[in-house]
Amino acid sequence: SIDPQQVLEWTISLAKQAGSVISKGRETLRDDIAKDYDSIIKKNSSDLVTKTDQDTEAFVKKAILDKWGPETKFIGEESYAAGEENVLDDALTFIVDPIDGTTNFTHAFPFFCISIAVAYKSQLLAGVVYAPFLDRLYTGLAGQGSYLITPSDGTPRKLPLQKPLPLPSLKQALIALEWGSDRKHETVERKARTMEKLASQRGNMVQGIRSIGSAALSCCFVAEGSMDLYHEIGCWAWDIGAGFTIINEAGGLTVGSKDDTLSKIKANGKELGIVTPQVLQGRKYCVVRGA
Ligand code: IPD
Repeated sequence: SIDPQQVLEWTISLAKQAGSVISKGRETLRDDIAKDYDSIIKKNSSDLVTKTDQDTEAFVKKAILDKWGPETKFIGEESYAAGEENVLDDALTFIVDPIDGTTNFTHAFPFFCISIAVAYKSQLLAGVVYAPFLDRLYTGLAGQGSYLITPSDGTPRKLPLQKPLPLPSLKQALIALEWGSDRKHETVERKARTMEKLASQRGNMVQGIRSIGSAALSCCFVAEGSMDLYHEIGCWAWDIGAGFTIINEAGGLTVGSKDDTLSKIKANGKELGIVTPQVLQGRKYCVVRGA
């Protein structure tokens, strides 16, 4: 049987080792990109993959299978891109984004991280998000709360870090919205309309909108209480599996639509759709909908 605490501790140590692979990868990244810029492009020039994403995923996958045995399931962004299936069943399953925020990584904008979610019996059990350049490691364990660790000094701090500010309406909210990597005209137009409504006095004006370029870190900022809401259309389970666990354990709420990948791991299957002041009242929310 599985000891959840042991799974979490092992996953934290794996994330730290992966952080070293990522930091090392940054040293040669500029030279690699200069040699062959097109090699980092996946489906378009805002959807990137570097050799470090692939090396980190291979490192993490091998460590997982060596430790937990061949019957363990692995779902990873780059394995999926290479043609593997995403099947979630009752097995112990690790859901991994080796670098969430790859565009940030290539620019040395420090908001990138490794995100590892662990599911068991099709439920999220644990999540670890580690941003090596920010010295921030977030953890969540089902029923046991979520924490921020700064690996340089090691002290865990319980999330949220401070009492959430009262949130009587969207006017007081600092929210995260993303453009994502699907840049089809219709998709961008829809997102621009949402941004316009939330930015303008004519609409449902919020206090501030940020796009930090990492789904996992956006979730962690909601969990720690420095942002009030994160909304995105079209995330994958590896982007938000760990972040959802961390938010839920910090007392926040996550919502996914029924048709997205994440709803398969039962993260609160309700569809919320539009953000209204009513749904925000008094709580921290992360809203993620399928495309
Ligand atoms: C992306 C980032 C980005 C979000 C995209 C994700 P990747 O992940 O999290 O913020 O807008 O939807 O796909 O491609 O850098 O791993």
